[in-house]
Amino acid sequence: MSLKITGAGKGIPAKRVFNDELAGFLDTDDAWISSRTGIKSRYLCVDETLTDLSAAAASQALQNAGLSPGDIDLILCSTVGGDYRTPSLACCVAERVGARCPCFDVNAACTGFVYALEIASLFLRGGRAGNILIIAAEMMSALTDWTDRNTCVLFGDGAAACVVTAGNALRYLHLSSDAGADAAVLNIPGGGGNSPFAAGKRDSAFLRMQGQEVFKFAVGIVETEMLRMLDALKLSPEQIDWLLLHQANKRIIDCAVAKLKQPKEKFPCNIDRYGNLSSVSIPLLLFEMLEDGRLKPGDTVFMSAFGAGLTAGSCLMVWE
Ligand code: UT7
Repeated sequence: MSLKITGAGKGIPAKRVFNDELAGFLDTDDAWISSRTGIKSRYLCVDETLTDLSAAAASQALQNAGLSPGDIDLILCSTVGGDYRTPSLACCVAERVGARCPCFDVNAACTGFVYALEIASLFLRGGRAGNILIIAAEMMSALTDWTDRNTCVLFGDGAAACVVTAGNALRYLHLSSDAGADAAVLNIPGGGGNSPFAAGKRDSAFLRMQGQEVFKFAVGIVETEMLRMLDALKLSPEQIDWLLLHQANKRIIDCAVAKLKQPKEKFPCNIDRYGNLSSVSIPLLLFEMLEDGRLKPGDTVFMSAFGAGLTAGSCLMVWE
């Protein structure tokens, strides 16, 4: 295929909130959250904006790639909600870091990073860009109802970025969406406004999720996507070094370990520290693995994400 990742970065809020702190104002406790999800803490914005987090991640990724903002030909942000509905978060980041290039946001919920990789590969293959900055960024604390223990304990805030350029690392990429899925399974209403012509009040509210429905979808789709990739590339599971799954629930990852019959060490996790960061999960894992030297040239890395839509996306890279 057509791309490789040449640098990565992260932008995480300063405030770390442990489960016990949530029990101070919600009918919940560390035992439930830890055992049902694997989450022990999450980082939440106090006075940081999503542009702040995204620009920090972008600057670190550029530095690690040895590039300056002027070298970037396209900025893609994966987010379900930037600081503004418009301008896009990508435009806000460009302004902050001093880049002058086309910018737009992608919303494929938790799958957004894989969707952005596909778009980047098309720009690179078409010769429309040489260096592309992809940033995944979410402020989930602004989108969840802090009186709803079913959802607010699950998510965190953060950003992760990577610079991609032409290369042969990306060997496979598959996107899907279940067009028959009911939006009620997982949604954030986007209505609002005060149009005098609207019949009734348009709903603009917090994230709602039927957790068990999403759980079942996630467990099934990760296995389906892995088997599809192995079949397409004629590989065996043993030939895959790392499986980076969307960090929605440690129990979903444990199910994948059991179904795919691979050692759990091949499944890096950061949900214990960050909670569910939507599309930020996978690029943040990539950043951490590059930082601590786990990810080495030649390693085969399968990435698989799923989320509202219901969307899914997976890819395989042979690290360059
Ligand atoms: O990134 C987007 C994709 N999202 C996902 O993949 C999420 C997938 N779903 C899940 O991870 C799980 O379904 C959840 C973590 C959301 C929920 O876990 P669950 O094991 O499915 O629990 P449940 O919703 O069936 O709730 C079980 C019980 C309920 O009490 P009753 O009705 O049995 O008395 C809930 O009210 O746990 C209760 N509960 C809580 N208790 C303490 C729900 N949230 C909490 C809480 N603290 N925070």
